[in-house]
Amino acid sequence: MHNDVNTLFNKLWDKYVSITPSAPKIRTLLGFGEVDNLFNDHIALRTFDIQRIGLDKLAEHFKTLGYYEAGEYHFKEKKLFAKHFLHADTSLPKVFISELLTTEFSTQLQGIINNLVSQISDESVVAKDFLYSGRHWDIDYSTYQTLLQESEYAAWVAAWGFLPNHFTLSCNHLNKFSSLQALNSAVKDHGFELNTAGGEIKGTEALYLEQSSTLADFSAVSFTDGAKLIPSCFYEFAQRYPDKDKNLFTGFVAASADKIFESTDQR
Ligand code: NI
Repeated sequence: MHNDVNTLFNKLWDKYVSITPSAPKIRTLLGFGEVDNLFNDHIALRTFDIQRIGLDKLAEHFKTLGYYEAGEYHFKEKKLFAKHFLHADTSLPKVFISELLTTEFSTQLQGIINNLVSQISDESVVAKDFLYSGRHWDIDYSTYQTLLQESEYAAWVAAWGFLPNHFTLSCNHLNKFSSLQALNSAVKDHGFELNTAGGEIKGTEALYLEQSSTLADFSAVSFTDGAKLIPSCFYEFAQRYPDKDKNLFTGFVAASADKIFESTDQR
């Protein structure tokens, strides 16, 4: 595990941009002239609910660095469970970790996932680089497609392994944009596509959080039977509002997150 939080986030960012070339491009265009205001609202990670590599195992890497659990979320239809984590230093990104509830799927899917996970060593789960270590197994393209039929999320984790699914830029910190809508327009004007599931903007000021995201980039994955271009990661944007106590909301909205997951859908 890392002992320096900024080093961890830098490593996570490097891994993320290696398969998400649109993210640094968007960051540059949105941040023009105000580099100091480029602030990550949160990052998100995905895993399976198998104990050895479950949500709590990923969370340990952040807890060691002072993060604490601050909320949980259930996604009934997608069969996912998630928690978010905060740090006393509020300039650090929030962390959102989800896990697929594998036992709610077919025995075929469970067999495939258990086989992949069995190839990970216990040492690698606690190693410094685990959260950006990618895949620890081989997989062929037809197995990926088999998973895809039941769960886009399962197929994504099987193809990519462990790395940030997205980084999220804080709209609040950008003086250049007065609203998430204005930020979205700028992103689209530069030719990037947004996820429109549930509308371009998920959430409202009344829910204290508005979110939007690009559609995932396509990057090459090496399957045992050849390389294929598949959806990798996306970039998200968040605008937070003061809650009832007049403090900027620090949680997440399950209905919005549910639609954000679809940013990696096939298309
Ligand atoms: Ni997010």
